[in-house]
Amino acid sequence: MTLRLSRRSFAAAGSLLPLACTAPGRSAVESALAPAEGNAVPLATNPLVKQRADAQIFRHEDGWYYMTGSVPEYDRLVLRRSRTLAGLTTAEERVLWRHQASGPMSGFLWAPELHLVDGRWVMYFAAGPSGGGEDVFRIRTYAVVCDGADPMTGNWAVFGQFQAPWDSFNLDSTIFTHRGVRYFAWAQREAGIDTNSNVYIAPMKDALTLSAAPARLTVPTLDWEVRGFKVNEAPAFLVKNGQVFMTYSASATDARYCLGLLSIDENANLMDARAWTKSPQPVFVTCPETSVYGPGHNSFTVDEQGRDILVYHGRDYEAIEGDPLFNPDRHTRIQRLYTDSRGNPDFGVPVGNGPLPERFSPAVHRSAKLAHEGDRLLVGDAPLPQTQFRSLGQEDGTVRLSPILKPAHRLVANSDGSIRLLNADAPAPAGADRFRREAGPGGSVRFISQAFAGRALAHSSDKVTLAPVGQPESAWMLD
Ligand code: AHR
Repeated sequence: MTLRLSRRSFAAAGSLLPLACTAPGRSAVESALAPAEGNAVPLATNPLVKQRADAQIFRHEDGWYYMTGSVPEYDRLVLRRSRTLAGLTTAEERVLWRHQASGPMSGFLWAPELHLVDGRWVMYFAAGPSGGGEDVFRIRTYAVVCDGADPMTGNWAVFGQFQAPWDSFNLDSTIFTHRGVRYFAWAQREAGIDTNSNVYIAPMKDALTLSAAPARLTVPTLDWEVRGFKVNEAPAFLVKNGQVFMTYSASATDARYCLGLLSIDENANLMDARAWTKSPQPVFVTCPETSVYGPGHNSFTVDEQGRDILVYHGRDYEAIEGDPLFNPDRHTRIQRLYTDSRGNPDFGVPVGNGPLPERFSPAVHRSAKLAHEGDRLLVGDAPLPQTQFRSLGQEDGTVRLSPILKPAHRLVANSDGSIRLLNADAPAPAGADRFRREAGPGGSVRFISQAFAGRALAHSSDKVTLAPVGQPESAWMLD
């Protein structure tokens, strides 16, 4: 059987209140989305960073956001930092360490993660040799360590190899501390289980050794976990609503790649694999409507207001030539991670390219949301993706409001006071699809019609309408 050179056949085959004002040094388009009231936090735009897969972003106690990830060449470990999430897009990136000229760390470098372990900065990564053929997928987990307090300026050197409980293909490690216990979680192949990789967890003795035998938390068995290849990898942890959630990635790294979810009571024994519940369906998948394909390998952070942010990679096209592993366009993306009515994470859909979307609730009816059902606009309750709208800055300092699921559509005002959702090429009165975004009372925002003076986007019962600017129904709260 001719083996394709692939690790898998080998192994088995913001929100900010932008004001309609043109600040000095900003274009009108940028000003339309400029942060309000002196906020220095710009709104992030997806892709956040191009061609960085497997991204880890975290906000450290020093106030910096740190970001690392796999580079398309898989030949070096990189790190960048910024005071804002949006700033990561243009932040200087430093090369911390390059693969060696020969030996077990001279080939691919995958999925680095930066962690502060016992007061030292340690970057974990998966690496393989460069001998060619199948040997390049002899992937194991290693670490480099910084000699100083600042990971961006210190010197980095090999620290050692993770002492896995058995010797086999292993990758995608992360560290998670819960109730004072520091856990190591990673993906590994296990003899006797016909999969490429499963996810394990174990308490740590020190940076490279475990203090107990691992628990096997998930094995790819469901249909959406074994598409192309039988893979569970890239664990990431989030504590919320009295539970510990673990996301992981499944299937081939093409458009079939997706996120699964395990959950456990936060007071339970994380080492008891039977105490974890696996979602029967994936929680985050390819979305043709927003043109994001193969979303996965996520991490979690918070935005500048402390709100949960989902970090992940995804391509903005579906068809891939050759092995997806060697396609460079898994871009780093971020989006708000909301919660559902029970307080659990609601992943929604990958929101697609462009400024981060927001949700709008009437200031006088906070439980309702601006939403759409197909081409019909409404104010009420709807699934998360139908409530997410992007404010697209225009040259005249106004914005267009566009739903993430229908990016070619926008809200259009009419002389009769109605608001419709029309495709970009549908005829509309001059300025009818443009609104000046202005601060309202109590942190609200108003969308003043560019076409109909003195009138603003408002709601009337479950309808979206135009109303006089001073009317309470024309004030919207952002989320
Ligand atoms: O991006 C390289 C590897 O491919 C990562 O370690 C893994 O999560 C992905 O599937």
